[in-house]
Amino acid sequence: MRFHVFESPKEASAFASNIIAEQIKQKEDTVLGLATGSTPIETYQNLAEKNKNNEISFKKVRTVNLDEYVGLSGDHDQSYRYFMNTNLFDHIDINKENTHVPLGDAEDLEKMCEEYEKLIQDLGGIDLQVLGIGNNGHIGFNEPDIKLYNETHVTDLTESTIEANKRFFESKDEVPRQAVTMGMASILRAKHIIVLAFGTSKADMVKRLKDAYLDPQCPVTFLKIHENVDIIFDKDAGSKL
Ligand code: F6R
Repeated sequence: MRFHVFESPKEASAFASNIIAEQIKQKEDTVLGLATGSTPIETYQNLAEKNKNNEISFKKVRTVNLDEYVGLSGDHDQSYRYFMNTNLFDHIDINKENTHVPLGDAEDLEKMCEEYEKLIQDLGGIDLQVLGIGNNGHIGFNEPDIKLYNETHVTDLTESTIEANKRFFESKDEVPRQAVTMGMASILRAKHIIVLAFGTSKADMVKRLKDAYLDPQCPVTFLKIHENVDIIFDKDAGSKL
């Protein structure tokens, strides 16, 4: 696990977008695993800029997103499909048919989860996965628990995640209580993982990545098993190291 600390989120995001751009230059049909949330937004803006400057092309890139709220359709303005379209896909030359976000409004969610897992496999697996960290240590929506799931599944959101995400909704009552998320193995099978963490609210989690043990109550600690992980954070997120 490689730790990279930067003065500010801006510099950290520049570093992250350079890693992603290099990956795409090396393999034009790269499979990118993508996250939503506040943290990767500037990285996505940098990628759109690099695309505009003809530094990289997404024409052959395929993407799979980590998660989606249950019950929200892709045109709901708080769905993760909508987030991805407005924060990245609408601004780059990607073929939208090559972009995949779990369908939170599928009639048969279990079947959709199985199909999503198979899709990742059929694409040849994830070359580079982008992750954020929940304040409670979740990755994707693998929430702190006594047990963690391997594959894509439906999960209940914890009170702390509902609390953290209510800022995007009109009221807390509107935050969906469930989500579909890639599982721990779906994430850990990625060939390379980059984790972004900014601000003091992530400082405890960045510190937990230095601890010498795995804890299902802090799912991000399972990244220690992986051999190719870059943790990219600003000095506030690194303040407890
Ligand atoms: C989003 C996701 C979540 C976020 C995490 C951090 O697709 O999977 O795990 O990465 O909740 O969110 P922000 O970046 O908003 O602090």
